[in-house]
Amino acid sequence: MFKEKFQNLKEGYTFDDVLLKPLHSSIEPKNANVSSSFSRHIKVGIPIISSPMDTVTEDPMAIAMARYGALGVIHRNMSSNEQIEMIKKVKKEESIVIRDVFSIDPETPVNVARTLMKTKNIAGLPVVSSGKLIGILTKRDLEFSDSNGAVKDIMTRDVITADQNVSIEDAKYILYKNRVEKLPLVDSRGRLMGLITAKDIKTREQFPNASRDEQGQLMVGAAIGAYDIDRAINLEKAGSDFLVIDTAHAHNNNVLTSLKKIRKEISIDIVAGNIATAEAAEDLISIGVDGLRVGIGPGSICTTRIVAGVGVPQLTAISDVADVASESGIPVIADGGIRYSGDMIKALAAGASTVMLGSLLAGTEESPGTEMIINGRKYKAYRGMGSIGAIKAGKSDRYGKLGDSEFIAEGVEGSVPYRGKVSENLFQFIGGIRTGMGYLGAANIQELREKAVFVKITNNGLKESHPHDIRIVSEPPNYQNSGIY
Ligand code: XMP
Repeated sequence: MFKEKFQNLKEGYTFDDVLLKPLHSSIEPKNANVSSSFSRHIKVGIPIISSPMDTVTEDPMAIAMARYGALGVIHRNMSSNEQIEMIKKVKKEESIVIRDVFSIDPETPVNVARTLMKTKNIAGLPVVSSGKLIGILTKRDLEFSDSNGAVKDIMTRDVITADQNVSIEDAKYILYKNRVEKLPLVDSRGRLMGLITAKDIKTREQFPNASRDEQGQLMVGAAIGAYDIDRAINLEKAGSDFLVIDTAHAHNNNVLTSLKKIRKEISIDIVAGNIATAEAAEDLISIGVDGLRVGIGPGSICTTRIVAGVGVPQLTAISDVADVASESGIPVIADGGIRYSGDMIKALAAGASTVMLGSLLAGTEESPGTEMIINGRKYKAYRGMGSIGAIKAGKSDRYGKLGDSEFIAEGVEGSVPYRGKVSENLFQFIGGIRTGMGYLGAANIQELREKAVFVKITNNGLKESHPHDIRIVSEPPNYQNSGIY
């Protein structure tokens, strides 16, 4: 019985075990389409997601990721209220139509209006009487005004307005034609219903490929624990576009039972994980999850495989899950272990629809990790969510709690080199993925998944793959191998 356990052992592969075979191609890398699906209803312009870790994703990271067509998942190592505030900040960052508009009564003294506009940094304040828009107070109106008067005496009365359902294109035309910066939106009875500003339209045009919801706001998701029903409900109310059930082992009966309850309460997409097997995928899909997060122990900061002896090499885990998930149209997120853009394209070729990054984003400007200088070089703190530091700092139950005070760590704490802005890094990652798609003749991610052929390599093959027999004097931005990875 025990001997049998070692007969016909399944072999598991990870990134360094294989390469992608070059195929006949008519695709230029610049024309390869890298858009993909994150979950059942959420599409992304680029297939990269920032991990819900307390040294990776808070609101600045989520904003940067969404602006460039990717997505961020706000971590949960904080109170529910703090997490809700972060979600709200992302949602408010770029609203095309401002719905909760500041307005002022016509009888308000001018000096009060002046202070309000200064403190709230508002350049044009709609004037409302009995709910109806009757004017707008601009900085120009205030310039030579008598501070003792009332707003009604100096406001601009002929306000250019638009219907509350105006399209962005029409709003842009009206703003441009009338040379105004603010466009109040009104309903058929002249009541103020919203505001569109030229500045917000310009920002939107600066990021044409951003991940946006139907209202034009940036998309963002939040991580929750498997038993956090209240947190889930409040995050959905706060505007989170999706939730990620963030557990170390989602193929667990208690998790599955709780997930069923959460599914009933929540209508936005729910991604669940982490898992590494086809059986886990089947069970999670049967209770209606919208995406699967795959990876048990491949992460750069993980010690799960060493501490618990458990895991599946990442490419095998991805392909096992993707075989089941693709039958139900459920996207797979390859989470952990990615060091180079070459690993990203291998994960996508193995069946993932997106990749989730921790280490590769922890060193960017937008991550929340503390900056430090070591031997004259800049680093940022990065730690596993199962590290002692992260467990102690937070309310997370993802890893390690056997009792109230004992911890069994499944991760380490350290630092990664500073790597500049998220945008520069995403540019390099996507460039690498597109280059790979050019070698494979894949016009889009679906074609990549269908066409890709892997070849198994030896240790010598791996050695040959990295630069060799040279002392590198200048590191390119997409290849750092200083021995810390
Ligand atoms: P990378 O390789 O991108 O991996 O740094 C990030 C992913 O690692 C997972 N994670 C952990 N896994 N112990 C673990 O076993 C931990 O302490 C830990 N913290 C994060 C997580 O899936 C993340 O996205």
